[in-house]
Parts: sequence; structure tokens; C-alpha cells
Amino acid sequence: MTDRLTIRRPDDWHVHLRDGAMLRGVARFTARRFARAIVMPNLQPPVTTTAAAAAYRDRILAAADGFQPLMTCYLTDHTDPDDLAAGHADGVFTAAKLYPAGATTNSASGVTDVAKLAPVLDRMQAIGMPLLVHGEVTDPAIDIFDREAAFLTRVLTGILRDFPALKIVLEHITTADAAQFVADGPATLAATITPQHLLLDRNALFEGGLRPHAYCLPVLKRERHRRAVVDAAISGSPKFFLGTDSAPHGVRRKEAACGCAGIFNAPFALESYATVFDREGALDRLEGFASEHGARFYGLPLNEGTVTLERAPVLVPERIATEDDAVVPFHAGETLGWRVVD
Ligand code: DOR
Ligand code: ZN
Repeated sequence: MTDRLTIRRPDDWHVHLRDGAMLRGVARFTARRFARAIVMPNLQPPVTTTAAAAAYRDRILAAADGFQPLMTCYLTDHTDPDDLAAGHADGVFTAAKLYPAGATTNSASGVTDVAKLAPVLDRMQAIGMPLLVHGEVTDPAIDIFDREAAFLTRVLTGILRDFPALKIVLEHITTADAAQFVADGPATLAATITPQHLLLDRNALFEGGLRPHAYCLPVLKRERHRRAVVDAAISGSPKFFLGTDSAPHGVRRKEAACGCAGIFNAPFALESYATVFDREGALDRLEGFASEHGARFYGLPLNEGTVTLERAPVLVPERIATEDDAVVPFHAGETLGWRVVD
């Protein structure tokens, strides 16, 4: 039995760091574990220009250094392909994020019709800039548990057909349909996987009562879907890699009549992933998933340095204080079986 595991320093290919007091409260958790992190742009107002992204990057580095925030552009119906390409050439933008308007937190300014993005996607394809996708349709007639699967056939298939050289990351996959679609897709298509979608099925939302801290988008799915997502993560396929989707909201905004979507998993994300890979007898594949596949897909160098995990209990706190509030971390109050050796 493996009790100690040293892997190359990992990256988080999908994180929400927020701004202001929340940023100052949460950024250190990402910085202490991950060499690089793809930072989501769904602030209020969203990060839609190179200038806004450069300023946001400075605020992130003022909140926590020792890691490299990789910035993303929030695509809208009015994104300027020239500003996007200039920001990419300057090294400000690593990628751009497609939120279908209304799909999730702060997505109101998102894209209303992917057809309108054609000039932008065309340019991204030409310059080798990855498109990151929140893959859910927003049609209210589609059941919320089916919105990811519907996105594959209604939207993603068309983007792949029209932009065959565009690199696309389908973010935070939650279904057997998405795992299969990505596995069967071209080498230009990859996916990130969160710890919560590996560990929880939708029953966790209702365990003994309504559980706001298990609510995120895409929402947790049936057990058979969780199983398929685990199989994808541990498959060793370079198309699947770590993206926590850590998405902190203050405790009052989570524990409310209309609670926000998002799970704050940054503090113990590596421990979470290690727990899954260990349970599956796949610890030997954790390094590829956490530290290699993403960098290769993005065309970035692998990190130097390592992180060591050991089989030992670690108690996750009930709450983590921020300047003016508190956030409840994923696994709050639980004891995990793997800890990072600092
Ligand atoms: O649960 C989620 N929270 N899903 C998202 O897509 C957005 C995120 C957030 O920003 O809170
Ligand atoms: Zn996200």
C-alpha cells in the first residue's frame, strides 16, 4: 500500500478567486498548492478587456504570490477579436471563457447565441488560444439535470465542426455523456474535472435535509454519471485534467432561501483528489491528471518542483474566516485520509 506520494507540482485549470475581501481571503489556498491557475473572469462586472484582466492579475498577486494566475477573457456578444488577440499576444490572456447567458453565477453578460461568436472563435483558432466552455444549455424547457448533455448535441458539436483546429476545454464535466463525448472527440477537445463531481452524486444535495454547500453548477448528477466521470479521471487519458472550480461564496449567501451555486474546495482540493484516486487504486495516475495533462493541452511547460502527500488524517475546519464574512469549505468538519506534507 502506498502511504506517501510525491508528484510534480500541480496546476488548477479552473478556479474562481473573486475580488476584494473574498480574493484576499481565498487566494492563498490556491497559491500554496498550485503553480498556476486558470482564473475565471465572472466578476461583477466581468473581465472582458485586456486592461481589466491585467489589473485583476495585479490584485490577485497582491493578495497571494508564489503562483502564476493565468487570466481568461469573459466572452460576450460584443467581444472585440482584436483586443482579445492583442491581450493573448501580450501574455495577459491565456484563454477565453464562454458562458451561455444565464447559465450560472454572473453569466448575465454571457453569450446569447454562439453563432454571434464566429469572428471571435475564428481568431482564437488562428492564434491557438483555447476556448473554455461552461457546457450547459439555458433553455428553461430542458430539465436542469439534462442541460449538460443537451449542450453537447445542440452547441458543442457545431463548434467542433465549424472550428476544427480550435482548442476547447469542456469545463467541470458531470455526466457520462460528456465523458464519452470528450473521449471520442478530436485531440483538440479536453475536459476538466472537479473533486465534488468525483466524490458526490446528487443524493448529497438532500442528505438528511437540503444541503446548500453541495450545490454547484453544473449540479451534481446520478451515481452512474459520477462513476463515469471517475473512470474518465483515472483513465490516464491526456484529455482529462484537474480543474477544481473552487467557487467561494460567503456563508450567508450560501445558506439562504436562494443560495448561490459554488463549492469552495481550494483548501483541501489535492487531498480530495488523492482520496478518490487512492480509493480507485489509481494513485499512479494522479500525477498525470493533476500536473501533466493540462499543461500539455495548453502547450505550457511542466512545472518544476514537487508536492508530497501522505496517508494521514487531516481535519477540515467548519469555516474559514474572511475579512468580513466566512466561507464553508468542501468537506467541512470531515477528516480526510490524505494530507499534504508542507
Ligand atoms: O457552481 C458554480 N459556481 N458554477 C459555476 O459555473 C460558477 C461558479 C461561481 O462563480 O460561483
Ligand atoms: Zn467555474
